[in-house]
Amino acid sequence: MQFTTSSEAASQLATDCLIVGLFQDQPFDDDLTALDQATDGVLTRLLEDGDLPRGAGKTLILHALPGIKASRMLIVGLGKAEKFNGIAFTRAAQAAGKALRQSRARHAHCLLANSPVADRDESWKLRHAAVALAHADYVYTATKKPKDDAPPATDSVSFPAGDAAETQLAIAEAVAAGVQLARDLGDAPPNVCTPIYLAETATRLAGEHAGLEVEVLDEDQMAKLGMNALLAVGQGSVNPSRLIRLSWRGGKDGDAPLALVGKGVTFDTGGISLKPRELMEQMKFDMCGAATTLGVMETVARMKLPINVEGVVAAVENMPDGKAYRPGDIITTMSGKTVEVHNTDAEGRMILADAIYWTGQNLKPAKMVDIATLTGACVVALGHHASGIMSQDDELVEELLGAGHAAADRGWRLPLWDEYQEQIETPFADMKNLGGMPAGSVTAACFLSRFADGQRWAHIDIAGSAWQWGKPESATGRPVGMLVEWLVNNAGGWSAL
Ligand code: BES
Ligand code: MN
Ligand code: ZN
Repeated sequence: MQFTTSSEAASQLATDCLIVGLFQDQPFDDDLTALDQATDGVLTRLLEDGDLPRGAGKTLILHALPGIKASRMLIVGLGKAEKFNGIAFTRAAQAAGKALRQSRARHAHCLLANSPVADRDESWKLRHAAVALAHADYVYTATKKPKDDAPPATDSVSFPAGDAAETQLAIAEAVAAGVQLARDLGDAPPNVCTPIYLAETATRLAGEHAGLEVEVLDEDQMAKLGMNALLAVGQGSVNPSRLIRLSWRGGKDGDAPLALVGKGVTFDTGGISLKPRELMEQMKFDMCGAATTLGVMETVARMKLPINVEGVVAAVENMPDGKAYRPGDIITTMSGKTVEVHNTDAEGRMILADAIYWTGQNLKPAKMVDIATLTGACVVALGHHASGIMSQDDELVEELLGAGHAAADRGWRLPLWDEYQEQIETPFADMKNLGGMPAGSVTAACFLSRFADGQRWAHIDIAGSAWQWGKPESATGRPVGMLVEWLVNNAGGWSAL
């Protein structure tokens, strides 16, 4: 989807579809008034008949209205003005995008950013309208041909021209591309999206963007470094493990980078602690932390963000096998700390232990954030609406929560108090990889914290937010939005771009 601008009056725009928003409890704004007048009062009459959608996210398409040049008008309900926040705006724009796709319009003009949103400026609304429309236009086609009569993708959407419009739309294109990559990788089946496929994707990105460099460690190289926890998880699979690193050097030489570390379990059977058969196919989404990391790196490179950023991915497949690691095994991690395996299905923390430690030692980041579909307990705690954020660094938590709020890609903090650490103690090793039933997301984070010694580090559990059930089942591309916002804030904010 291309984004453009137009300074033509809405009624004079010869487009396939004009997108406008309508509040439940507000009179027509200037644009709607102008369109109502141009159409000789069609909107007023429909409103009196109760036909116009006023509820949030409801849409209606009117065809061939007199007096305007657009062939359709898509009206999206915005709900009550006082409840219309950044999240509601994004949802309304996504609803509009879904209806737009179904309408078969190839080109549209979007006036949604005219609607007032509490605490959001013009640039924000433009950027987020564009990203949301692109998001809603996505249909999975990699391994399923759309029906011949399926609605086509939208080619382009224009927005009212303005001072910041061009810049904001270029940013939106960069963000949408990162979100798209994260979704494509998440949705890809596990027989395609293997650790090597993730490494090839990173290599392709580095080839496409000057300033982006790639490094891929194979199993021999990782063995030499002592990354035994990461290798243990992958040793039951015929698909070899990889450690992938993408570096963006947009900042000064020698400036400490910000680092992202993504969990890339390309399929999680649970290993010897085999998962139940029901819904096991969903464990192809267990590399969504890796997908987020690669997606963010693509956005960062497209935006040419003026800071140094490192994206590290631990890529493995967790399979049961004669060679697989087993409960009872004690493994010496790269840090030298020993781990007693109590459940091979708690594999995410094993691979992240080495990836976090390696990142801290080698890349010396100013701050490090890991992103992982780490625990089912996080889905129980927060559902699909928020990512779980855990850290002892209050300032870093505030940065991430703030970025999530700003990007309409929210997180919620869970505690990481020392008291929880007791749950992962064992007589046989420095720790075990299981903390028992209580606070499963927190004890997983406790485990990770032991490999982030001396680092400014936070953990984001995206088990609930990275993919959605139904509507259809798909990767969401979250939390690319939150993390791009966080990086931009660390680079001086959107206005500095
Ligand atoms: N990848 C799963 C977590 C997960 C579960 C993500 C459901 C999304 C939906 C992770 O590797 C896992 O299996 N975690 C276990 C941990 C347990 C063995 C301590 C879990 O959550 O049950
Ligand atoms: Mn698991
Ligand atoms: Zn997993």
